[in-house]
Amino acid sequence: MSFQIPRGTQDILPGEAEKWQYIEQMARDICRRYNYQEIRTPIFEHTELFLRSVGDTTDIVQKEMYTFEDRGGRSITLRPEGTAAVVRSFVENKMYGTPNQPVKLYYMGPMFRYERPQAGRFRQFVQFGVEALGSSDPAIDAEVIALAMELYHSLGLKKLKLVMNSLGDAPSRKAHRQALIDHFKGRISEFCEDCQSRLEKNPMRILDCKKDRDHELMETAPSILDYLNDESRLYFEKVQLYLTKLGIAFEVDPRLVRGLDYYNHTAFEIMSEAEGFGAITTLCGGGRYNGLVQEIGGPETPGIGFALSIERLLAALAAEGITLPVAQGIDCFIVALGEKAKDESVILVNKLRQSGMKVERDYQDRKVKAQLKAADRLESAYVAILGDEELEKQVIAIKNMATGEQTEVSLHSFVQYMKTAVESK
Ligand code: HAM
Repeated sequence: MSFQIPRGTQDILPGEAEKWQYIEQMARDICRRYNYQEIRTPIFEHTELFLRSVGDTTDIVQKEMYTFEDRGGRSITLRPEGTAAVVRSFVENKMYGTPNQPVKLYYMGPMFRYERPQAGRFRQFVQFGVEALGSSDPAIDAEVIALAMELYHSLGLKKLKLVMNSLGDAPSRKAHRQALIDHFKGRISEFCEDCQSRLEKNPMRILDCKKDRDHELMETAPSILDYLNDESRLYFEKVQLYLTKLGIAFEVDPRLVRGLDYYNHTAFEIMSEAEGFGAITTLCGGGRYNGLVQEIGGPETPGIGFALSIERLLAALAAEGITLPVAQGIDCFIVALGEKAKDESVILVNKLRQSGMKVERDYQDRKVKAQLKAADRLESAYVAILGDEELEKQVIAIKNMATGEQTEVSLHSFVQYMKTAVESK
């Protein structure tokens, strides 16, 4: 019997995993500088949490969740996104009561959505996301967007487009909602079933329908920007002003609707404009969600954040032909010939490793030539050769593989010699 990986998932193999580590490290470093702290929440939560936050009319909740009953009869869902859990934890741990406001958090980890797999779309994918809770200063909206852009830029991506919209506050959305209902009502039978059921529940989601996107009523649908009240409009203008001051280019698209229900005010997506990127171009999505904390049982607290998947980030890097500078190769391979030398190499390898070097030896009982080949395959910067004869004289031969230079040093000074050599490389 042979097994295959489940559809929409992938093994990250050695060679590939180093790229992930590189990106994760870069994200952590940026979060450190922006003063966002890591939070780790469970991979599964009570299903109700997602119904409440993501919204029960969304595709995620209606079609995409991995939901099951556990042995205690509770409905459990593998997290389809990170915001709900972060907000749950924020409320549960009373982070709203800590003196350091806003609370600025980041997370990285697998999310699960039962979607039709295609390029850039997986059933298990890894999101890096940030959430800033407790501030309704438009400067934090700009900060969150700047953080996402900085990650992409520092990895070398250039062909990016930032698209923004404002979904306004509750009164603005209410007015817009009514305008949308009036606009679509008379001809809703021409739309798909999903749109029909959304007309009353959540008409804004009609604008995001993939099936009906070419319907003539879509083009003429009322724009949310025409329904923003003064407060919402001024807020949005301030976010744009800050972005401009930070030198971050953006486009305003009044038709940008996010696929989750908790948003208001600022909504944004970052797209790849690289040629050949594929049909799904959204790399990152986020926005403001004032009201969500209250929805989850906490005090009224504003919030904003984003999430991006590492899978799509890697796809964008590939589309722009960017290779990450991930360290390959090892520092030293110890070639040993003869029984005693082999025994000694066990100790020498260990000593080098303990002083910080990346070191390997032979474990396949290879002949010298094959050991040298193995060192070559591992792209070893140095090869140290120890035979019983050298051992007798308490010396070891060292070859610098880049220059071909060879030296012999005493075993006693071997570790120090290697350390200096590797550090000055
Ligand atoms: P989202 O737009 O559903 O938002 O997802 C954010 C990002 O996750 C997408 O832009 C994409 O990079 C990635 N993503 C989503 N689904 C998949 C998939 N099936 N395969 C690969 N990548 C995927 C959220 O999840 C919100 N929680 C973002 C947020 C945080 N808003 C405020 N705070």
